[in-house]
Amino acid sequence: MATIPKVVTAGVISIAVGTVLYNTFSRKRRDSIEDEASEPLSSSVKSPLSVPTGESSSDTVEYAQTSITNMFSGLVGTVMINLGVQLGLFTTAIRLKEFTSDQLAIEAGNLSPRLVKEWLYTLTCHGIFEFNPDTEKFIILPSFGMVLSQPGTGAMAELILTMCGRPEPYSAVKEAFKNRGGTSYEDYPGFSIMNHNLCVVKRAKDILVNHYLPIISKELVEKLHKGINVAEFGCGCGHDLNTLAKAFPASKFYGFDLLEDSIKYANDEAKTSGILNVEFHQQDINELKTSETYDFIMVFNVIHDLTHPTKVIQMIHSLLKPSGIFLMADVNSSSHLEENLGRPMPKLFYGISVMHCCSISLGKDGTGEGLGAMWGRQKALEILQAGNFKDIKIINGEPPEVLFVCKK
Ligand SMILES: C[S@@+](CC[C@H](N)C(=O)[O-])C[C@H]1O[C@@H](n2cnc3c(N)ncnc32)[C@H](O)[C@@H]1O
Repeated sequence: MATIPKVVTAGVISIAVGTVLYNTFSRKRRDSIEDEASEPLSSSVKSPLSVPTGESSSDTVEYAQTSITNMFSGLVGTVMINLGVQLGLFTTAIRLKEFTSDQLAIEAGNLSPRLVKEWLYTLTCHGIFEFNPDTEKFIILPSFGMVLSQPGTGAMAELILTMCGRPEPYSAVKEAFKNRGGTSYEDYPGFSIMNHNLCVVKRAKDILVNHYLPIISKELVEKLHKGINVAEFGCGCGHDLNTLAKAFPASKFYGFDLLEDSIKYANDEAKTSGILNVEFHQQDINELKTSETYDFIMVFNVIHDLTHPTKVIQMIHSLLKPSGIFLMADVNSSSHLEENLGRPMPKLFYGISVMHCCSISLGKDGTGEGLGAMWGRQKALEILQAGNFKDIKIINGEPPEVLFVCKK
């Protein structure tokens, strides 16, 4: 008979638009992540049957037209935000405080006055700028100015556009619908650089070392200071591992990722920062070749992208030393659609999952498990338990991240 694993759930916090945006809005730090007042994911759902879309909907043609126009405007708004970030239009607007469109164009680097005007008009319609017809001057609303000048906002816009705004993923995903297949990383040009930019701003530098680790285990922090073996699978650009390697020079860190470009970013960062206790390897973790065992293994937002996550979790279990800790960070969601309705984050993450996470997890031939970004806590527990982890603690991370802290 299977042993029932010890599962501790530390409550679930309500989720903002994304880790990046949330981190940039909220500079507050918690002494304990578990102390956060928790709101069940389902609290906003009165009745799944009476609120089928998660919106206060009204079934009229006019309502449908307005809703669809809003959906179209969302993607256009993302493109406008990305342009504004890339061209320095927001930072210039904040610096100028009040300006005509010609002034903004000149001050942002002699940009096209006509295009800057059209861009301003678009975002004034979106409510980001206010226009005074008497003076023909604009101002940016202070709260929008604050959010839009943070690096995370640009990184998030880049992520949405890499997944949803380019022709290559679109064609590949459309094909995957028709042939019951999936996608591969070749279908996402610019993925590594986007991931690199996102990763650098995603978890503010101190979160892992100063906030996550002490909450996960004080004993682990002591061991890291003394010197242990640590692995990260799907390390991407290696920013998290480099941060840890720098903080714990007596320990040895190993990062693995499928993508050559990501490993290059990881090595470049280690080299530039003079970090000597870290190694990065380009490897498919489905076919990992290592004789090492580890005291601490981490995966951040990786498992739901894998074609065979259950097998990989079992492999991780076998590579973990008997007293080791496995940390899995992933999107904080429910595995049940009805519990995700009525919040802004799922609208974004289910769609990103169609365009990337779910499609890539199905694999090009469609035989993968297809978990996707919104696989949820219940499914995650199921897979961790199938991987033989017996002691699993769930801790709220920085939204929208949830941490699964697992022991053998
Ligand atoms: C969503 S990204 C997360 C990256 C990083 N951990 C972070 O949190 O920013 C998923 C990462 O998993 C890597 N990955 C996906 N499948 C993999 C596989 N089979 N073997 C190794 N790495 C893989 C991708 O290359 C990518 O860097």
